[in-house]
Amino acid sequence: MYLASTAPAASGSAPARAGTADAAFAVEFEGLGRSFPSDRGASRTVLRDVSISVQPGEVLAILGTSGCGKSTLLRIAGGLDSATAGRVLIDGTPTVDFDDRTAVGFQEPRLLPWRSITDNVALGLPRGTPKADGAARVARLIELVGLSDFAGHRPREISGGMAQRASLARALARNPGVLLLDEPFGALDALTRLKMQDLLLDVHAAAPTTVLLVTHDVDEALQLADRIILLGRSNELDGSTIAQEIVVPGTRPRDRGSAELAELRGRLLDGLGIDRHGQARGVETTTAIPHFPY
Ligand SMILES: Nc1ncnc2c1ncn2[C@@H]1O[C@H](COP(=O)(O)OP(=O)(O)OP(=O)(O)O)[C@@H](O)[C@H]1O
Ligand SMILES: [Mg+2]
Repeated sequence: MYLASTAPAASGSAPARAGTADAAFAVEFEGLGRSFPSDRGASRTVLRDVSISVQPGEVLAILGTSGCGKSTLLRIAGGLDSATAGRVLIDGTPTVDFDDRTAVGFQEPRLLPWRSITDNVALGLPRGTPKADGAARVARLIELVGLSDFAGHRPREISGGMAQRASLARALARNPGVLLLDEPFGALDALTRLKMQDLLLDVHAAAPTTVLLVTHDVDEALQLADRIILLGRSNELDGSTIAQEIVVPGTRPRDRGSAELAELRGRLLDGLGIDRHGQARGVETTTAIPHFPY
């Protein structure tokens, strides 16, 4: 489990704001590195020297092959794990453990099965939120994600896509200055995924927050992000760092069929080691990599 496996987070000691951001926050990665102890007492570097400034309200997509350190980067940004080199600043101050200026959305919804959708979303509210304010905010968010008719239902009574929408509402209930999304639509079918992408754009337009979005899906990144970074490493011993950084042209929603995006798509697929017909390079079998998601 994500939380259970985190090393003790030990970042800055400044108190985090009480999750009441009404504004998007800047996120600054400064020479970030993360190594983990390996079996034989040595250490294994997963991330090295990751430096990037994310502007308030920007949507930054993070791409990279499996195991390259995307989730680790996101966890460190949220104070769920600690860096072994460098640091992350949010709104100018270092992250703290379980930093409540951030909220995290995962690949699976992680709703409590015995609670209603309303009560699950309410779990995201910052501690100390006055009851009436909290109830109004939860109702607004449930409406925003289109679940008003299911507010009293239990998670088993709604579909996977609906549960994922509830999970997004729970993350937004915190009113985060930074929303950290780790493959939030990865478990959904292709059509629901496209709808969720549109929903995220609507949510972002309604309540501007900085979004760091980990995804395996190049098209998703091109559709949603202002900027995309591709993490990569030159060999197994090196940690991953930023191998490509692409500013996505045009305003959202973007034309999925545009030649400009097709060119960027090709570059990103190259960077991921996948040729333009969906085949992994250097793999001898004829097994095709599924076209969508990657
Ligand atoms: N707590 C930990 N202890 C030891 N190794 C870890 C720990 N957390 C992550 N790692 C290692 O760090 C590497 C990167 O993991 P991470 O989960 O960040 O990859 P990822 O890019 O998110 O992969 P995926 O796309 O498959 O989700 C992996 O090799 C993983 O085994
Ligand atoms: Mg991951």
